Amino acid sequence: MRTLCWIRRSLAVGLLLGIGWTSSAQPREGLRKLMVQKLDSSKTVLEGIALADFNKIIKHAEKLIQLSKTAEWFVYKTPRYELHSNEFRRAAESLIAKAQAKNLDGVTLAYFDLTMSCVRCHQYVREVRDARLPVPQGGYAHGAVGTE
Ligand code: HEC
Repeated sequence: MRTLCWIRRSLAVGLLLGIGWTSSAQPREGLRKLMVQKLDSSKTVLEGIALADFNKIIKHAEKLIQLSKTAEWFVYKTPRYELHSNEFRRAAESLIAKAQAKNLDGVTLAYFDLTMSCVRCHQYVREVRDARLPVPQGGYAHGAVGTE
């Protein structure tokens, strides 16, 4: 049921994105929503670990994998971003396997791996951003802000 609900919601988001495809504002909004869902699910996995609720862990690890396969996830189309995404997915898959085996220690270690993958990818994203350093202070008045 939840999955269905989620699919419906992402379809709605997709439609919104479709409408404003040429403007950069809406895709960023879609991306932000995705990232918030990602944070929510990873927090719920932690809740599942604390309560030894293996079904909760599995369900939300699966959701994390689904999120990592959406088009919005791939904001950066680079091999390293792909690598970080794979690492994230592998950790989520390991979470599921350990939860299915009701191995709480294994689950906890997999959660640690997952968290490391969050940190590594974010480090990479920051590096890419810093390297671009596109405009000097105040320079965003052109292009980046005005979408009309
Ligand atoms: C493969 C890369 C990648 C992985 C792995 C990843 N993220 Fe992110 N995350 C991003 C990108 C890209 C953004 C958007 C950065 C931007 O604003 O341009 C982001 C943004 C976020 C944000 C900010 C959302 C907002 O409101 O702007 C949160 C919170 C977040 N991620 C949580 C997590 C957590 C928790 C994990 C691990 C469970 C994780 N991320 C793993 C790439 C990743």
